[in-house]
Amino acid sequence: MPRPGEPDYYRSRARAEGYVARSVYKLKEVDEKYHLIKPGQRVLDLGCSPGSWLQYIASRVGPGGLVVGVDANPPAIEVVPPLYFVHGEVASLDLETIIAISPIFDVVLSDLAPKTTGMRQVDQQRSLELALLAWEWARQLLREGGHFLVKVFEGPDTSTLAAALKKNFSLCRPIKPAGSRPASREIYLLGLKKRGAPAGFRAPKSGPRLP
Ligand SMILES: C[S@@+](CC[C@H](N)C(=O)[O-])C[C@H]1O[C@@H](n2cnc3c(N)ncnc32)[C@H](O)[C@@H]1O
Repeated sequence: MPRPGEPDYYRSRARAEGYVARSVYKLKEVDEKYHLIKPGQRVLDLGCSPGSWLQYIASRVGPGGLVVGVDANPPAIEVVPPLYFVHGEVASLDLETIIAISPIFDVVLSDLAPKTTGMRQVDQQRSLELALLAWEWARQLLREGGHFLVKVFEGPDTSTLAAALKKNFSLCRPIKPAGSRPASREIYLLGLKKRGAPAGFRAPKSGPRLP
């Protein structure tokens, strides 16, 4: 971990490579190892701002893909196809808003993180609530065989989420990417190859309705 005033390797690298946040390298590491994102796919990115994951995902899916970012704050990047942005709090957003853009996704990612209070238990609980919400969205929108990656601040109740993923995916792994600060309690849970069709899936009447 860099000392105060010392340059952070991932921050400097992000700046040099044109990414708006250092977090991109966490997703890149997982994607390079597990091959989550492929050209032409539909990806949902929860907690997408300022937008480094969006930048990376857009380059991976290419012009034939579709990427929907959701956040309470707007991204700091230009949102042009294949990117779409839905502004709002995940707890109060109507899933229909997302379904109107795409009724089904190949990959659901969540980098949602609460504003930290410094009180470990409170922060863990809030992070777990966001991660469980992300899982609920994935349950409704992720296709059979699709992949799910979710951030959570590790704590005694993380096992609740891990158990749900173990039940619903062929493989579930906890991951601490190199770009994640060692002092941070964050880990990512990866669910590979979802079992079963999405709970909320309805076939579109005439293809996706893009905004
Ligand atoms: C760590 S940042 C995500 C960074 C992003 N992956 C990137 O690469 O730029 C976490 C994001 O979660 C968003 N967030 C936290 N709680 C939220 C909520 N309840 N609803 C929507 N967005 C939320 C924050 O606004 C913040 O932009």
